[in-house]
Amino acid sequence: MSADTAARPVLVVDFGAQYAQLIARRVREAGVYSELVPHTITAAEVAEKNPVAIILSGGPSSVYEPGAPSLDPGVFELGIPTLGICYGFQVMAQALGGEVAHTGLREYGATDAAVVGDGGVLLGGQPSEQNVWMSHGDQVAQAPEGFQVLASTAVTPVAAFGNDERCLYGVQWHPEVKHSDFGQNVLENFLHKAAGLPADWNSGNVIEEQVQRIREQVGSARVISALSGGVDSAVSTALVHRAIGDQLTAVFVDHGLLRKGEREQVEKDYVASTGVRLITVDAADTFLGHLAGVTDPEEKRKIIGREFIRAFEKVQRELVEEAKAEGEPIRFLVQGTLYPDVVESGGGAGTANIKSHHNVGGLPDDLDFELIEPLRTLFKDEVRAIGRELGLPEAIVGRQPFPGPGLGIRIVGEVTADRLEILRDADAIAREELSAAGLDSEIWQCPVVLLADVRSVGVQGDGRTYGHPIVLRPVSSEDAMTADWTRLPYDVLSKISNRITNEVREVNRVVLDVTSKPPGTIEWE
Ligand code: XMP
Repeated sequence: MSADTAARPVLVVDFGAQYAQLIARRVREAGVYSELVPHTITAAEVAEKNPVAIILSGGPSSVYEPGAPSLDPGVFELGIPTLGICYGFQVMAQALGGEVAHTGLREYGATDAAVVGDGGVLLGGQPSEQNVWMSHGDQVAQAPEGFQVLASTAVTPVAAFGNDERCLYGVQWHPEVKHSDFGQNVLENFLHKAAGLPADWNSGNVIEEQVQRIREQVGSARVISALSGGVDSAVSTALVHRAIGDQLTAVFVDHGLLRKGEREQVEKDYVASTGVRLITVDAADTFLGHLAGVTDPEEKRKIIGREFIRAFEKVQRELVEEAKAEGEPIRFLVQGTLYPDVVESGGGAGTANIKSHHNVGGLPDDLDFELIEPLRTLFKDEVRAIGRELGLPEAIVGRQPFPGPGLGIRIVGEVTADRLEILRDADAIAREELSAAGLDSEIWQCPVVLLADVRSVGVQGDGRTYGHPIVLRPVSSEDAMTADWTRLPYDVLSKISNRITNEVREVNRVVLDVTSKPPGTIEWE
């Protein structure tokens, strides 16, 4: 696909729904490029973006509430194929002369919907009775003139409508959630059949499109990027490097709290696969020095955060001077920000900490960097797909989320070089066995925690031991906001336990954390 076509998106108008990003993602899954825009966008601004279609998201409001989010009605006059979802469906009905009723009847969760007639282009070919996911109080009581009712439920007479001539459609339910049986099919029918859009967009297009965008944004200026070893910063950095080559310098701060092999992976495999110019800052001793005697988790985080900024700024200053001497200022900083909710939820754990460092006064004022955030509309698995497309090592692209403060918050007690060594060995064994058992995709992450201040009695060989417990904390999660402990097969747990107690000195017990979140957090500290 050419950049021209990529520049003509499906616009997903955000009415404040928690699902708006999910809609954009489902559209991309259907092979069509999409972008999110706020509902305050005017018809003229929409026209300027020249979208191939528009989807109006759901939203928490009632169209009757004072100040309820609305849409410039001119948008419906642009002749652009449009699909309204939930609240967006009601906004559409109201704007086009239909009737939205405040009946006090609500539908939440799984609901039976009945397709009316042949279901039109939107629901055609689907079973006449189907399960859909609802979440609404108001309902469309009367479809606008010229619109055909395509579905209804026991409570909602107009649960879907369409006007083929104007290519305007709407559904009361949420087709973007997996609980709606034929949800993706509704979106695909709208995109491919009603709007006539081909399914020709994939992660390769993101790369092409972003490369072009980044080149335009950056010109001949210099750019720096902080690599954390995590997926997001690895992929965003590689993308920027693909666009501007050696105008980019990546900085990797080794704070000594990394997992086994991580530094080598970045320095060797990542550099080999991208060709990026990398500067590693060896700051392990400094970090450990400042962490000496500290046991409080928040105190540890603060110290690690502060030292990270110091280390990064030092290199930054050197690079700024170097660039100045060469006559090109450093004007940009790459950030591996994923879609905003991920940042909010802390689910983008690998880089979240680094991001907050840079955002919260992490940079000297006089530098005035602009941000390059090529992944900000994407979800983690889409980012992984792009990373693979860019040829990054699987060990990096497939990596679990890992907190910015690293192993520092997985040692309960003081962080010392010796304890880090123990934890690193135990963690490596757990990761190795989980991967060997093919369980990587089942777990969100599996923190391995050293209870450094706890000892228990054991017997190994002929002797009594007095060692430390290691905690395994395998969790399954969608976004790290909530999580459940993963039911790992006993034989895998047994193998991990045997290997850790046999191979890692000072560890004579392995325990399994069976707490969900809430009430437990994922990390122990
Ligand atoms: P919790 O422990 O809060 O973790 O359930 C949720 C997710 O966030 C990660 N995490 C962090 N990431 N800096 C980070 O960058 C931190 O200080 C931090 N604390 C927790 C954690 O690994 C999990 O994915």
